[in-house]
Amino acid sequence: MTEQEAHQQLEALRDELNEYNYQYHVLDNPTVSDAEYDQKMKQLTSIEAEYPSLITADSPSQRVGGEPLDAFEKVAHRVPMLSLGNAFNEEDLRDFDRRVREGLATENVTYVCELKIDGLAISLRYQDGLFVQGATRGDGTTGEDITSNLKTIRSIPLRIKDASSIEVRGEAYMPQQSFLSMNEAREANQEEPFANPRNAAAGSLRQLDPKIAAKRNLDIFLYAVGEWESGSLETHSDRLEYLQQLGFKTNPEWRKCQGIDEVIQYVEAWVEKRANLSYDIDGIVIKVNNLEAQEQLGFTAKSPRWAIAYKFPAEEAVTKLIDIELSVGRTGVVTPTAILEPVKVAGTTVQRASLHNEDLIQEKDIRIGDTVVIKKAGDIIPEVVRVVEDMRTDEQKPFTMPDICPSCGDEVVRLEEEVALRCINPNCPAQLQEGLIHFVSRLAMNIDGLGEKVIEQLFQASYIHTIADLYRLERDELLKLERMGEKSVQNLLTAIEQSKENSLERLLFGLGIRFVGSKAARTLAEHFETMDHLEKATFEDLVAVDEIGDKMADSIVTYFADEKVTQLIRELKELGLNMSYKGAKASDAPSDSVFSGKTVVLTGKLEIFSRQEAKQRIEALGGNVTGSVSKKTDLLIAGEDAGSKMDKAKKLEIEIWDEAKLQEVLGEEA
Ligand code: IVH
Repeated sequence: MTEQEAHQQLEALRDELNEYNYQYHVLDNPTVSDAEYDQKMKQLTSIEAEYPSLITADSPSQRVGGEPLDAFEKVAHRVPMLSLGNAFNEEDLRDFDRRVREGLATENVTYVCELKIDGLAISLRYQDGLFVQGATRGDGTTGEDITSNLKTIRSIPLRIKDASSIEVRGEAYMPQQSFLSMNEAREANQEEPFANPRNAAAGSLRQLDPKIAAKRNLDIFLYAVGEWESGSLETHSDRLEYLQQLGFKTNPEWRKCQGIDEVIQYVEAWVEKRANLSYDIDGIVIKVNNLEAQEQLGFTAKSPRWAIAYKFPAEEAVTKLIDIELSVGRTGVVTPTAILEPVKVAGTTVQRASLHNEDLIQEKDIRIGDTVVIKKAGDIIPEVVRVVEDMRTDEQKPFTMPDICPSCGDEVVRLEEEVALRCINPNCPAQLQEGLIHFVSRLAMNIDGLGEKVIEQLFQASYIHTIADLYRLERDELLKLERMGEKSVQNLLTAIEQSKENSLERLLFGLGIRFVGSKAARTLAEHFETMDHLEKATFEDLVAVDEIGDKMADSIVTYFADEKVTQLIRELKELGLNMSYKGAKASDAPSDSVFSGKTVVLTGKLEIFSRQEAKQRIEALGGNVTGSVSKKTDLLIAGEDAGSKMDKAKKLEIEIWDEAKLQEVLGEEA
């Protein structure tokens, strides 16, 4: 293919793929199969690989292409991004309408009502039709440049359907479904779940590595125009329609309302209907439709006089707390849960709410039999807000946490600096059972066909007591379980057998060592390569690994010091489980570079490379970049103001380079 032909083909593929993307993500109406899309995308990327100079900014391959950043650049908003005044009830809305009518000296005002999307405000700048910059609102005057992260949002067009220059504004958000599945994965990974979709969206867009944002399934609705020199439309509703014509995703629920009564009807309807949406809204935004009228009304110091945000009250419900149930988690934490008389809140029926710990129960003075007010935090996770004291009789029973574990009867303890009570009996059946559920889970050993129910049955039948027993299960035993036929037993046994071949990181994560999530497990496996090495690692060896902190190192050392653990690992080994890392450690990296197999530490202020870039380039050449200097360090690269790491390296007589030397060597290696 000549360059000329490549150019033409790329142009056609880009247009085609961008159009498919628009149909799928903006119109929600896909016109080709995923396979067809993937095939075209492959074609595009392979031509681009051959002719990298022909890659354009609007190529669909550029959505996740960005490198991680060191920090976000600041962006000055040439037109400030203001926020809105609030209305909390009908009276506030009527006051707003009165001010508008007085300001315009007219009785007839047309408003546009829109859903108030609960996400974060974003500005998108297009130059000659091409998406060039995306920013957060920040303080309204200055935001942060999050272009790379925003490019990962598929409903944001990389090129608009008019070669004009325009800055548009809208709300980036995380759909509820994405939020729920992301939190599920985070919990499985021992990561703190996000409290609500809003925080999750904000957290995702604040990631320096766009690959993380790309995985978060964010979306956006555009609702305003910021800077626009050639703008000539007369009403806000015309602008919304124009945004849609340009290829932006606008929210379809907006309506024109004549006068405040119609506005109030719209607001009231959505108090009910909001539960049916697949994304969160926290109110309704009401805007004067005529743009000249908007101009005439102007702004106060903080917000426009032509718009207001009606905020929904957090939906609450009253119900009875029937009981408090205790459960023991994998790490022994005893958690109280309120069992409630079923009640509907924000669209779903709630019958349980976590009470978290004893302190919370005491603080709110929650007693069994109380009438309680509940709400959904971030409208998702049910929580007890308070007790309705007026409903208290002398029948409610105060609740105290037990001294013994509800599962095994051993004493529970309150560890220093923790509010949680813990059962520390390593043989506690509830912990073992939860531990096994974790062991077989998707991110750990990923054993298909072993759901919670089956594990519960296996424990009840006393077929298993430890992880090792899982690999000793017999066909006849399994056949005796409820709802287990020949076929499912065979499939299960095959899945168990296959799991023996898993690479070390899955086993490590599955063991459930405190603070070791799946990412840390991979780092450990990659670094130590075998279980033997890891078992022998000292605290110092561990903290020398990038991303392994004191807390985790401590926990790992304590874990492997336990004789029961050593015994378990010995048994697993005998049962045939793989104990080494099978991943692609520096597989593509040359084995004959200056950095091959070397452990390198970066310190001080680097001027030529960003930290991330230096790390990546060294790793690409087979080096291993770690966080701190130890006997294992082969090379220290020191920028300006290098401190204690430099001193330590000198003491250990480790080779030290400055940044210029690094640049020189990288140049030679390239
Ligand atoms: S218009 C100057 N429309 O609510 C007017 N804002 O409290 C700019 N928001 O910062 C805002 N949905 O983050 C507007 N349909 C909508 C909105 C909306 C959500 C957010 C936005 C803004 C905040 C105002």
